[in-house]
Amino acid sequence: MFAIRNVTEDIVYVGVEDRRLHLFENLFPLDRGVTYNSYLIRDEKTALLDTCDATVMPQFFANVDAALGGRKLDYLIVNHMEPDHCALIEEIFRRFPGVTLVGNVKTFQMISQFFSLAIPEAQRITVKEGEELSLGKRILSFVMAPMVHWPEVMFTYDRTEGILFTADAFGVFGCNNGNLFTSELDYRAKDFVDDARRYYANIVGKYGLQTQAVLKKAKNMEIHMICPLHGPIWREEDIPFILSLYDKWSRYEAEERAVAVFYNSVYGNTESVVNSLMMLLGSKGICNSKVYDVSKTDISVMIGEMFRASHLIFAATTYNNGLFPKMEYLLSDMRALAVQNRKYAILENGTWAPQSGKLLKETLDSLKNMEQIGESLTIKSATFHQEALETLAECITASLRA
Ligand code: FEO
Repeated sequence: MFAIRNVTEDIVYVGVEDRRLHLFENLFPLDRGVTYNSYLIRDEKTALLDTCDATVMPQFFANVDAALGGRKLDYLIVNHMEPDHCALIEEIFRRFPGVTLVGNVKTFQMISQFFSLAIPEAQRITVKEGEELSLGKRILSFVMAPMVHWPEVMFTYDRTEGILFTADAFGVFGCNNGNLFTSELDYRAKDFVDDARRYYANIVGKYGLQTQAVLKKAKNMEIHMICPLHGPIWREEDIPFILSLYDKWSRYEAEERAVAVFYNSVYGNTESVVNSLMMLLGSKGICNSKVYDVSKTDISVMIGEMFRASHLIFAATTYNNGLFPKMEYLLSDMRALAVQNRKYAILENGTWAPQSGKLLKETLDSLKNMEQIGESLTIKSATFHQEALETLAECITASLRA
């Protein structure tokens, strides 16, 4: 059974929606599933852009066969070698033995690492930045996008129709449910933007500089449509929305002047002080604050929130003379994903030797362009100075309004 849809007259979407996967990359929870996008161009020559995850093989090949309609496959263009897209390359060669694979030098290196596939020289085209491939009436050119998300990543630009195939960039977690284009779904809705941000922050977030570099290249192209490897296809009128978010995220600029709190609390005392602080902030008119218990919240959600909010508050207990393990994990992921350019405040708790404030500060100060707001507040078990908490709330409010 196939499930395909035309993107344009000559381009067919042959990707697959996966609602069965619980954890993307065996790490990130998927509440709305995920899509593995793949596109078939039918010109005088046919070209398939990327494959799909191995788990959706039957659906993928039903789609490809239906879109080909009995024609042979001339080219397989590989924009990204992560297995959620490249897993079926070997199977493509089994089914279409005459196919020519188009990639860059790094693509072919990775193919030899992932597969024991001997591709004859005559069936390889190694492309560099700006090189072109004619399919007949349309010409494709290739744009290198290293480290957006892996080093071999490239974009394919269909110059004839102004369509940019962007690998992982501009991807979103979640299934499209047949609404293939952004014009068919509420892409400005909070849930959708949360999924787009969580995807960017956790998958590409570390590579802001490289994302900026490719955004600069995109400025010189006439783009009518963006076709990523996950999520919906961005229509021309919707492209400025996602481009502006990508520009912010990749410059590590907060989307909102708002507070996001990340706390751990073993017996509820630290949480109680966080609640008092949030009431103080609320009464001062601070809106849209978010509070996350690190013990219960998936780390990818919290990292996503750090790309949204300008002010991050950390409240942590001292645990084995160090940090609570889940708080430590959050901080190490922040470092790995290059979270930076934020204001932060600290609340620490310790019954006999509070250490968490010092450890939080050391880690946060080791990140780029982080600035502490006010003094760290110390809680001893369930005891703290109300005046110090109020001063901290005033400092946070003043900073948010600055
Ligand atoms: Fe969707 Fe980097 O793979």
